[in-house]
Amino acid sequence: MTKPAQIGASILTSDLLNLGEEIRRAEAAGIDFLHLDIMDGMFVPNITFGPLMVETVRRATELPIDVHLMIEAPERYLDAFVDAGATTLTVHTEATGHLHSVLQTLKRRGVRAGVTVNPATPLVMLEDVLPIADQLLIMSVNPGFGGQTFIPGTLGKIERAREMIERLSPKCNLEVDGGLKATNIGKVRAAGADMFVVGSGVFNPDASVADSVARLREALAEADS
Ligand code: DX5
Ligand code: ZN
Repeated sequence: MTKPAQIGASILTSDLLNLGEEIRRAEAAGIDFLHLDIMDGMFVPNITFGPLMVETVRRATELPIDVHLMIEAPERYLDAFVDAGATTLTVHTEATGHLHSVLQTLKRRGVRAGVTVNPATPLVMLEDVLPIADQLLIMSVNPGFGGQTFIPGTLGKIERAREMIERLSPKCNLEVDGGLKATNIGKVRAAGADMFVVGSGVFNPDASVADSVARLREALAEADS
């Protein structure tokens, strides 16, 4: 059974100079969680922010904070991000040779443990750790930047991920991240996802956060009807 749909706002394309206001707008619009993209300039070409930003956002909201680690050897920083107040830490299998151990550490520290793969990496890489994961993230763009176009071939991967979850870890959430908009989120829901990370589809100069989130909710409701 697919779980209720949750929308997460990625702050990557928000107005960082006025982040507190952006978070309040997202809360007022009924966002379910915030998504923070941590990039180190090695695992991905871009550099964003670190534990200090997570700590800062933690002080600004009670929403769950979903931290997406796009950093090499994430085992070096797990404690720092947990201490900063992350609700969930998601780790790329390509970034560590010790994914199982990373997940064990996260469970021991009492946070939700997420796993993910880049678009080119097959799902089988996650099969053996899925039973101890709380969240499986399917990347629908190559990680590194906001505002990219959804890769259509991802839909089949989401369907296969849903089957894998039903088989190995039914409580696990299925999250999708990258290029989600009101125009394609319904298809992603129909493919079996239950957590939807939206960056430029929520924070953009063309529409208010409230209107953007309302359109996303309508598309999700239509997919469920
Ligand atoms: C991409 C990040 C995404 C990004 C999504 O590397 O992981 O979370 O912020 O932004 P949009 O929705 O604009 O693709
Ligand atoms: Zn992300």
